[in-house]
Amino acid sequence: MAKKKLQHFAENKTFPHYFESTFAQISESGSNMRGNWKSLFFANSGKLIVEIGCGKGEYTIGQAKRFGNNNFIGVDIKGARIWRGAKTIEEEGMKNAAFIRSQAGLLHLWFAESEVDEIWITFPDPQPGSRKNKRLTSPRYLSMFKKFLKPEGIVHLKTDSSELFDYTIEMIGENNLRVVERVDDIYGTITEGPLCEIRTFYESMWLAEGKTIMYVAFQIDNLLQ
Ligand SMILES: C[S@@+](CC[C@H](N)C(=O)[O-])C[C@H]1O[C@@H](n2cnc3c(N)ncnc32)[C@H](O)[C@@H]1O
Repeated sequence: MAKKKLQHFAENKTFPHYFESTFAQISESGSNMRGNWKSLFFANSGKLIVEIGCGKGEYTIGQAKRFGNNNFIGVDIKGARIWRGAKTIEEEGMKNAAFIRSQAGLLHLWFAESEVDEIWITFPDPQPGSRKNKRLTSPRYLSMFKKFLKPEGIVHLKTDSSELFDYTIEMIGENNLRVVERVDDIYGTITEGPLCEIRTFYESMWLAEGKTIMYVAFQIDNLLQ
């Protein structure tokens, strides 16, 4: 493995705002942080907003800077990517952001029932073709997320993939979920605000290629678990 990657993995473990556990450590009763994020870590009663598949964490960091009264946690399976966001928290002395290295499907071991107010899914792998069950907006994943999302909590999807976007809109209709907001072309429609001003690493790449960026926010209360 590249030396720099190993250094980043090692440095991650020194950050008080970086969390990871083996499955064996948390599989029985969950992480110690489960149900305790506000009382033990953030020490405030602001909202808890989780970004899944956060990569380098631009959205988590960008939102945390703009919304200082709320708390933001970025989650990704790749520790080398998360390092960038975790390093920014240290460099800028931020108190309302953190990162977890975890598989999305294990997040119920990190968050208790109704602990999370909102979920952001930013530019997830579209999993083209028949790999629908692997999509982070599939009923399989959303029913796992429902275990820790508050009733009437919101799931936000930002994507460049029309296949994933169309799939998600169809899934919303089939499951009778409530759409809170839908924008079919963010940069052709919106000129100010966080939706177009906070750009992730992948978003910047897709924009440079002239791709259209789509957004939908929806509630998953009606989804069967
Ligand atoms: C295309 S990248 C987008 C990263 C970032 N959101 C951005 O827009 O720059 C997708 C990210 O999702 C992460 N990912 C994919 N499947 C995941 C899973 N099941 N659990 C956690 N992270 C996952 C990948 O490691 C990768 O960093």
